[in-house]
Amino acid sequence: MAETLILSTATDKASRYQVLVPQIEALTTGEPDLIANLANIAAALKQTMNFFWVGFYLVKKDALVLGPFQGPIACTRIVKGRGVCGASWKEKKVIIVPNVDEFPGHIACSSDSKSEIVLPAFKNDEVTLVLDVDSDKLNDFDETDALYLKQVMTLIERLS
Ligand code: SME
Repeated sequence: MAETLILSTATDKASRYQVLVPQIEALTTGEPDLIANLANIAAALKQTMNFFWVGFYLVKKDALVLGPFQGPIACTRIVKGRGVCGASWKEKKVIIVPNVDEFPGHIACSSDSKSEIVLPAFKNDEVTLVLDVDSDKLNDFDETDALYLKQVMTLIERLS
């Protein structure tokens, strides 16, 4: 497909996700390279949702290693169980953190990050990577983000 992203002008995030998700499917269909696809997905999420930081950490042996992202520089390695990303990997679940200062062991890559959502992707019931999204506002993520970002993770799972 053409490398053009149609951005919704809607102010509510559900509408913006609804315009985005089918485009992510089209953008990644036919491209076999996972890193290329993750790079475009991070860019599309940043452009559409204007997230402070959005990116991927890939499971490599006993650590999560930084993958494609958009935003300020970030820590490169996270061990299993550490931080929100490591907890999502270990517990195999979506984690929404309304206030990162109240999450035990939160890894502060940026002091501007205030709230966060992390979602795992699976292959054969094992986590292969996580999507991490940070906001510079408190309490910025909810079940709407979880719903649509899970659809993005399902699209990613079909790629790997
Ligand atoms: N805050 C994350 C670390 C990654 S950065 O936010 C990009 C965590 O606690 O796992």
